[in-house]
Amino acid sequence: MSGERARRIEGALKVTGRAEYAGEVRPDGMLHAALVQAEITCGDVVGIDDSAARHTPGFVDQVSYDDARSLAPSTATALIREPVVHFPGQPVGLTAADTLLAARTAAARVRVDYVERPSVAAIDQALDEAYAPAMAGRIIGASHRGDPAVALTGAHLVVRNRYQTAVNNHHPMEPHVVVCWWEGEQVVVHTSTQAVYGTRAIIAHALAMPADDVRVVCRYLGGGFGCKGQLWWPWMLWTLTASKRTGRPIRLELTRAQMFTLVGRRQETVQDLAVGFDATGRLVAIEHDVLAQTSTHGEYCDTTAEVSRRLYACPNVRTLHRLVRTNEPQPIPMRAPGTAPGTFALESALDEAAEQLGIDPVELRVRNFADHDHDADVPWSSNSLLQCYQVAADRFGWAQRPASATVVDGRWRIGWGMATTCYPAHRQPCRVRVRLQPDGTIVVQCGTQDMGSGTYTVLAQMVADALGVPLSQVTVELGDTLLPEGPFSGGSQVTASMFPAARQATDALRAQLAELGMGHDETLADAVQRIAPDGIEAEGAATANADIDVRCMSFGAIFTEVGVDADLAEIRVRRVTAAFATGRVLNPLLTESQHIGGLIGGIGMTLLEQTVTDRSSGRIIGDNLADYLVPVHADMPEFDIALIDEDDTYLPGGVKGVGMLGTAGIQAAIANAIHHATGTRVRHLPIRIEDLLHELPATTPGALPSMSE
Ligand code: MOS
Repeated sequence: MSGERARRIEGALKVTGRAEYAGEVRPDGMLHAALVQAEITCGDVVGIDDSAARHTPGFVDQVSYDDARSLAPSTATALIREPVVHFPGQPVGLTAADTLLAARTAAARVRVDYVERPSVAAIDQALDEAYAPAMAGRIIGASHRGDPAVALTGAHLVVRNRYQTAVNNHHPMEPHVVVCWWEGEQVVVHTSTQAVYGTRAIIAHALAMPADDVRVVCRYLGGGFGCKGQLWWPWMLWTLTASKRTGRPIRLELTRAQMFTLVGRRQETVQDLAVGFDATGRLVAIEHDVLAQTSTHGEYCDTTAEVSRRLYACPNVRTLHRLVRTNEPQPIPMRAPGTAPGTFALESALDEAAEQLGIDPVELRVRNFADHDHDADVPWSSNSLLQCYQVAADRFGWAQRPASATVVDGRWRIGWGMATTCYPAHRQPCRVRVRLQPDGTIVVQCGTQDMGSGTYTVLAQMVADALGVPLSQVTVELGDTLLPEGPFSGGSQVTASMFPAARQATDALRAQLAELGMGHDETLADAVQRIAPDGIEAEGAATANADIDVRCMSFGAIFTEVGVDADLAEIRVRRVTAAFATGRVLNPLLTESQHIGGLIGGIGMTLLEQTVTDRSSGRIIGDNLADYLVPVHADMPEFDIALIDEDDTYLPGGVKGVGMLGTAGIQAAIANAIHHATGTRVRHLPIRIEDLLHELPATTPGALPSMSE
């Protein structure tokens, strides 16, 4: 592929500050907005008095429920149409003023009267009312094959445990922001979104406008991880309402504290998992029950137990998802939704089983390799998991794995662990337009957006490759609903979705040129000047995967070495070796970078990240990046990433997704390594010092062999 290891083509724009992010758009006469937030946990808003706010110098407008009644009812507008408080900090109004300070001052002066109702702030308070989710029930609600209860009774070994994962928040560096203005009956919206077209659809529906009258622009994103893909951000619509009424552009940017409550979260899970084996280490049964939190105003359930249905060969499997409603923010997908929490449970349980069976953890997984999808009883489009185990194990040096809790390196107790990861390979409908300019350069357009993962670059590569021109001759335009409709950036789908559409567009362009009489040896630049002096363009369109007779997934194997301080129990990930099979690798540099980014997110989930809720009030404790810990550079281990190139002839272009894969599996790989280092099994995330402190011996075991010798 053209410029195989090409660096991001927009990189120079970003590092020189010339890439314009949504929050940097500053139209003339722009007002600033601030949110008025509920001070109760649950109840009704019975009165809003903004008379004091209106006396704030610079105050221009205040918007609340009364001004939003005309919005079309939907899940996106329920929270701003009905004066009901579902969680603390929920916005109950918005102020607009000449300056940000004035807007915030005015917001603080808005008096809100409530009638409070009893609230439920934790899932254990709501256990009695757990219910099966209605959303996408056939996919995630419950599944059953064989007779796992009977199989578990007759199993040689049963490992049955409860695993728990915490609430996490996405926290891209760039918070959610909207800058909007009206041009007559049309509105222009610059916003940080993983879906310009999805955002346009929400706005058009809410305001009962033709979609063509709404333009949504997002040229660059400072990260997303899921919180900008799910459109649970109805307060944007209050901003649009205020802009229309005042006739002025308005800008609303969330604070870091608001990023903890207003844009979704990874839901808390409690997973009861039983895995049964025969004496040879073959899985005979899996039961995987998931309990997870959702809000009192919306329903969301990760596909957490789904991994247990198809990652391994197993004749008897039952999965169940249940939800409980709490007065907490709405959960939404967060990087590696489903597989991140799900593999933590399953891959921890396999490690426990390997130890009890006396079988090497890699060997146990190899013995249970699923040569097809046992859940749907269909073949994989491709599955190179066995090769991933082998390559990663070799590069890691797994064959030299010492016995558990026997190795020290100075003050560090050393452990090795591994786990499998997987993620479905999806595609969405996509259109791509390719234009050959009179000067022979190429412009490519697609109404998707680049989260920062390299979408600009890889689309340029696809087109340069297909047309046989240097990468430097290709310009890519993304992030605007004036462009042909492209996919939402989520679920690791964008590259795979663009590939067939781009190929169709370049094929169509070549066909047009041939019809116009392009010479066999002629360059594109010469041809366009001679036969199409105004330039020429073509479009390509691709549909989603049908995925009926075949199952498409990416797979990987992740190996880690951790150190646990013998006296202080500090946990450090020292190195990560991983092999990933994601179909055809278009740009190894960007792919490795995505895997490393994914793994770092997983390290954060495993060892650091936890959104803490005060159980009595439902409020978030420590809603800042000093208290909510994320991995920093000093926490980074050495990464060794192996890319297993696959020839997947089912998927168009053979391209599978990359983004999510590294953020699953790593959690169990680390937990398993911690167990190997210390003998302590921790079955909840995050795993912290306090989980290991009391387990450690009083002094460093000096008699053990040292790795540094
Ligand atoms: Mo994603 S969690 O589908 O951005």
